[in-house]
Amino acid sequence: MRVLVTGGAGYIGSVIVEELVGAGHTPVIYDSLVKGHTSALLPGVLVVRGDVRDTGRLVQVLREQQIEAVIHMAALIEVGLSVTNPDRFFENNVAGSMSVLRAMLDTGIKKLVFSSTAALYGDPVTLPITEEAPLQPNNPYGDSKLMVERILGWSAEPHGLTCTALRYFNAAGATERNGEMHEPETHLIPLVLQAAAEDRPVTIFGTDYPTPDGTTIRDYIHVADLAQAHLLALGRTEPGMRVYNVGNGNGYSVRQVVETARAVTGRALPVDEQPRRPGDQVATVASSERIRAELGWQPRFPDLHAIIESAWNWRQRHPHGYANMTGIDEG
Ligand SMILES: NC(=O)c1ccc[n+]([C@@H]2O[C@H](COP(=O)([O-])OP(=O)(O)OC[C@H]3O[C@@H](n4cnc5c(N)ncnc54)[C@H](O)[C@@H]3O)[C@@H](O)[C@H]2O)c1
Repeated sequence: MRVLVTGGAGYIGSVIVEELVGAGHTPVIYDSLVKGHTSALLPGVLVVRGDVRDTGRLVQVLREQQIEAVIHMAALIEVGLSVTNPDRFFENNVAGSMSVLRAMLDTGIKKLVFSSTAALYGDPVTLPITEEAPLQPNNPYGDSKLMVERILGWSAEPHGLTCTALRYFNAAGATERNGEMHEPETHLIPLVLQAAAEDRPVTIFGTDYPTPDGTTIRDYIHVADLAQAHLLALGRTEPGMRVYNVGNGNGYSVRQVVETARAVTGRALPVDEQPRRPGDQVATVASSERIRAELGWQPRFPDLHAIIESAWNWRQRHPHGYANMTGIDEG
């Protein structure tokens, strides 16, 4: 299948592109490169530099490249920035998604996989979280994704679209080629490993949460397992909107992540305790029963130690991140 991957130069997108190529699909990356790294991408994969809010350009690319399905990942993702600049998030994430939808409708493309998030659930009442849990995001980032899910939910049936929203829990880990390197980095595992590599303390934001050790709890999912979920979602054929959680079902506190990183890296990793950050959820742990039952998804790396080890190995192989990797030409 010829698949447009918006945001395909980003952390998760670049791994999805790897998996698509591995499975015999033809991905085309569409990315503004406001974030992301072209040097991460596979040679031979076409990269179109463009903003998803540019509907005309999208329509042109969808037609020229004879695209059959879209994986829409392009978004701003920093929760803290969404709290201070909500307008930017709604503009980029909601208006950008409207533009992708418009371009698909104009070109008759019927299949969409959308990158959603566990941030939709806010502070859930019960764990693990099923797809039926109340949707009550506690930051503009999560709300921007909820708005898009609602727009797709209303649009799928009348337009005969097959829309799948994948609500990712915390993507982590690396493949041989691609690892996590956001700028700025706000995600725990790369921050912990950066501290380990530089032999300095790791900062913990909030130690007074109502959890067993006072730190927030997250469900970490290996990025390659997440990518597999997209390939399975592309196989859906029935029209309408379906949402799936994608997580491992295991919750780890920040302190447990630091402890596991100590074991993986052999570094001391002292901690620097700071106040809570605005917009952080207390605990998110997925029930992924639906995607297992309906799409046959099975995580290959459910263990936190293996996830952190893959990220550490990638960091060891690429101490300067993407800086010194061979880049590819943009199309
Ligand atoms: N990283 C996680 O743990 C996580 C969890 C839940 C959901 N998600 C979602 O997954 C997706 C990818 O996340 P990531 O961690 O790979 O982030 P990332 O920042 O590495 O990748 C996002 C990519 O989108 C591109 N982009 C942003 N705005 C754009 C626009 N207007 N037009 C074109 N391209 C644009 C960026 O240049 C970047 O390459 C996002 O939609 C994010 O909300 C991520």
